[in-house]
Amino acid sequence: MASHFPDPSSFPSMPLSYMIILFILLNVISSVHTFDYFSSCANQFSCGDLRNVGFPFWGDGRPEGCGYPDLYLKCTGNLTYITIKNISYLVKEVHPEKNTLKIARAEYSKGLCPSQFLNTNTDVIDHNLFDYLSGYQNLTLFYGCNVGFPWKILGLFDCPVNGVADTHAYPLLGAWVPIGGFCKYSVVVPVPSTFTVADLANLQAIGEAVKDGFEVKWTVGAKECNECLQSGGVCGYVYDLNKPTCYCKGSDSGSRVCDADAKAPQGYPRNIPRSHCPFYFLEEPWSLQ
Ligand SMILES: *[C@@H]1O[C@H](CO)[C@@H](O)[C@H](O)[C@H]1NC(C)=O
Ligand SMILES: *[C@@H]1O[C@H](CO)[C@@H](O)[C@H](O)[C@H]1NC(C)=O
Ligand SMILES: *[C@@H]1O[C@H](CO)[C@@H](O)[C@H](O)[C@H]1NC(C)=O
Repeated sequence: MASHFPDPSSFPSMPLSYMIILFILLNVISSVHTFDYFSSCANQFSCGDLRNVGFPFWGDGRPEGCGYPDLYLKCTGNLTYITIKNISYLVKEVHPEKNTLKIARAEYSKGLCPSQFLNTNTDVIDHNLFDYLSGYQNLTLFYGCNVGFPWKILGLFDCPVNGVADTHAYPLLGAWVPIGGFCKYSVVVPVPSTFTVADLANLQAIGEAVKDGFEVKWTVGAKECNECLQSGGVCGYVYDLNKPTCYCKGSDSGSRVCDADAKAPQGYPRNIPRSHCPFYFLEEPWSLQ
């Protein structure tokens, strides 16, 4: 019976043998296959009506390493989605020349009563990546509110919440969290700044504004990417180092900009000497702003 079990004295050597096999495997893989980021990241993202979106985004044909980790575009049924602060947005327009996106909360595409409520931060965008464009203001949609308000509420509507008895909902200008126990949830969405308090009674207009979405400007990578493109490179991102990079033709790694020779159309694929297109980690770190 005891012979069915391995000799306990052999256990300590097992992790080491796994490590050796892994080490050999990794060496074989890296020597045989170097990923061609220059070609892969030259691919543009296209989905439905959105065409030719490149850096700083990645997704669907643009692998990781072609854009900032949080700027992932997902194509589903010809519609493009992006997740910002854990909220899914439909990407309606992309304007690379202005570095702007027009986005709308995905769960509001069919009205003001989504199937699930996600409380939001009062500030909905990630300021490491985006800025608001002017022309928008915050609107808060409260849900799961109880009926006993002592005052008249503009735009009160009914919206059932799973497992919550109170079904009242209402809009309010500004960015708010549920206060005083009147409501269970609040969702903050930017709407055009032309909206007035009187418009809060017009639920159809609110629904359309929320569905139409709002514009944001992405603030990362533009300067570095222009330098890279002008040097004949393709922009990308090094996850391990958390910074953008420039992939050069025929080079197996990124750098800040490419050697001028890399622009030459002939001789692809060619090996650019590393001294001409140095590894990114030999470059002095360059800041994002
Ligand atoms: C996406 O659009 C293409 C071209 O208009 C169409 O052929 C295709 O059926 C659409 N796919 C979906 C999932 O709607
Ligand atoms: C993100 O959203 C999902 C639902 O879409 C939720 O299950 C998850 O807990 C959220 N995570 C954070 C960190 O808020
Ligand atoms: C919405 O409110 C947040 C938090 O007060 C603020 O940081 C943000 O700038 C506001 N958004 C707009 C579009 O005004």
